[in-house]
Amino acid sequence: MTDKTVLIVDDEKHTRDGLRSAFEDEFDVYVAANGTEAIEVLRNDSIDVMVTDLRLGGEDGMDLIDRALKLPRAPICILMTAYGSVDIAVEAMKRGAYDYVSKPLNIDELELTIKRAIRSRAVETENIALKKQVERQYGLERIIGESAAMQPVFDIVRQVAPTRATVLIEGESGTGKELVAHALHNLSGRPKSRLVIVHCAALSEQLLESELFGHERGAFTGASEKRIGRFEEADGGTLFLDEIGEIDPGTQVKLLRALGERTIERLGSNKPVKIDVRVIAATNKDLAELVEKGRFREDLFFRLDVVKISMPPLRERREDIVLLAGAFLREFAEENGKPVRDLTADALQRLVDYDWPGNVRQLRTAIEHGVVMSNAGKIALRHLPAFLQPDAGAATGVFAVKPVRGAVSAAAGAAGTGGSALPGGDLDLARMEQVFVEEALRRTGGNRTEAARLLGISRRTLQRKLKDDDENEPTQQG
Ligand SMILES: Nc1ncnc2c1ncn2[C@@H]1O[C@H](COP(=O)(O)OP(=O)(O)OP(=O)(O)O)[C@@H](O)[C@H]1O
Ligand SMILES: [Mg+2]
Repeated sequence: MTDKTVLIVDDEKHTRDGLRSAFEDEFDVYVAANGTEAIEVLRNDSIDVMVTDLRLGGEDGMDLIDRALKLPRAPICILMTAYGSVDIAVEAMKRGAYDYVSKPLNIDELELTIKRAIRSRAVETENIALKKQVERQYGLERIIGESAAMQPVFDIVRQVAPTRATVLIEGESGTGKELVAHALHNLSGRPKSRLVIVHCAALSEQLLESELFGHERGAFTGASEKRIGRFEEADGGTLFLDEIGEIDPGTQVKLLRALGERTIERLGSNKPVKIDVRVIAATNKDLAELVEKGRFREDLFFRLDVVKISMPPLRERREDIVLLAGAFLREFAEENGKPVRDLTADALQRLVDYDWPGNVRQLRTAIEHGVVMSNAGKIALRHLPAFLQPDAGAATGVFAVKPVRGAVSAAAGAAGTGGSALPGGDLDLARMEQVFVEEALRRTGGNRTEAARLLGISRRTLQRKLKDDDENEPTQQG
């Protein structure tokens, strides 16, 4: 009647049989006489709800619940206790049980409890799915990266996005600071509010002030109309101050006041206006260093630096290059209507080796260039921009140990599940993997055990990959 599964755990046969016949029209019922049997069932089948007696012969139903909740597919747990042992029941719920029922059992009550449990799980799953969808559309899923270096970025964004805390994003040019600002805003839980962006470096002192705070008519020559500033425009939402390191001392003072008092004054007015704005600032300078040099106010620095997000340069997370290249390749192939599907091995190797002073932005334009220049289904090294060509002068970077490892597992993961940011199948993952395997073997002088360790995979897996390669493509040149 339904595909919901219920596991009954009780050491008394007549209870097991009784509950089975009571529920088998309603659910798919499994039974177990003790903890070991129960765990066995939980491991082999997907169980929605486990109902366990507190006393299982010599075993403790509470221990079983503890173990069950640690399984990868943990069931919802309901405890059956003797009448009156409420303390124990409460303890069980503290440890993660969903609910309890007292013995002697009231079958209708138990059935209701089970149904309620199933419903609550459905809602939970739905919420998770919704949250994922939101993240996919607006938030973190647009920020590609599976490297260890990127994990703190994701963690902090998730953690602080819903708060009002001021966030300072530091990082070299092109590392994704603006992308992070968007994610912070989109995950802020103020979905209808606005994200207002001000590029502080682009404006002269007076223009920046009036841009931020607005002005009254006649506040300065040229101010022929009253104008509200970006702070007021962002009221109820987020104000992103890009290149904050560039703002002049006068504006720094005003900004400090705005952040501290949560009010602003338009130029030419002394009437304070209340504002409710979440401020995110970004800089590709080292703000602390600017403070030391006396070019940035220390008090403003402290106001901004409540939560800091440091974007790692691309060369410190080379294992993400494969993922990023894949995503950009797909994006630009689609945009240009070209059937480009992958990169040749040497082109990819070059991308991984290069130091990327312009970071992700530079990689992105390099791939765009590659897609446009390519006239086959692949981007070859010669299709990439001049600075990546072998004769471009720069010494070829060394293939670092950590990146090799991450890149292969990322590529392997994407190939296996399609669950990664890399568009499943569209990039020739087998080819990329092969590049990494070859590189690892080269560096370890052909020692397979060492190479496997370097790649973060087992020797057996490596062996299998080598075998696959032999069968598929004995030679490989771009
Ligand atoms: N992790 C990433 N995943 C996908 N795209 C990224 C990532 N990081 C950056 N990009 C892309 O690279 C380009 C530059 O990113 P962004 O503008 O956020 O960098 P930035 O740090 O603000 O640079 P700048 O300091 O020069 O302003 C954008 O096109 C952005 O979409
Ligand atoms: Mg930027």
